[in-house]
Amino acid sequence: MVRPSVAKLGTNFRCYVDFDVQREKSFLNLETLFGNDHPVSMEIGMGKGLFMQQKALDEPTHNFLGIERVKKFLLFSASRIEQMGLGNVKLFSVEAREFIERFISDREIQNVYILFPDPWPKRRHRNRRLVQKDFLLLLREKLKDSGVVHITTDHKEYHQWICKQIEELEGKSFISLPAHRTEYITNFQRKYEKQGKDIYFTRLQVLRSQ
Ligand SMILES: C[S@@+](CC[C@H](N)C(=O)[O-])C[C@H]1O[C@@H](n2cnc3c(N)ncnc32)[C@H](O)[C@@H]1O
Repeated sequence: MVRPSVAKLGTNFRCYVDFDVQREKSFLNLETLFGNDHPVSMEIGMGKGLFMQQKALDEPTHNFLGIERVKKFLLFSASRIEQMGLGNVKLFSVEAREFIERFISDREIQNVYILFPDPWPKRRHRNRRLVQKDFLLLLREKLKDSGVVHITTDHKEYHQWICKQIEELEGKSFISLPAHRTEYITNFQRKYEKQGKDIYFTRLQVLRSQ
């Protein structure tokens, strides 16, 4: 496979959605976006996208929506997805929270994957962490009944923080599922496993009284 130079990528990929959050006003119609009504899963902070490339290849009757705020990573991933000929992926270079809140309708998403989110280890930066109680509650609104949030990190303290966020929601908004390794590796996971680091997996299922 040709390794693309990020600077020369361009944006002319079928899977890349040139989306301007300032200009757009309405919720996305996912059936129109993907051209079918297959279930949709979402990966937040997908980086160079190795996880999604493998998953989308193995699950052609499932759609995947990828979010990554760093455009050059997203375009790198888009070029791979294009080379692989995957029609079930759409990628957005946007900030996750605003995009999800304003453009994803309630109860549309089957799974959310947050794999190796930035740990922001300094105490004063913890409010920058993606996994916060209110963010999990936002994801819950967007997930279908019994939808699942999958979170993976190599950072022990962030893992403990994630467990603490979940503790207060558990039994009311989510239930914890037995943790197990995600089916496919991410770029960061590959690096950390080579270094022999421990990896922490978390799975949360939406709890909803009808
Ligand atoms: C540590 S990297 C992990 C990348 C990939 N998931 C992996 O495991 O290889 C975290 C990624 O999340 C992205 N990210 C962090 N916060 C984000 C946000 N609020 N919205 C969209 N992307 C975000 C970063 O740009 C970065 O690429």
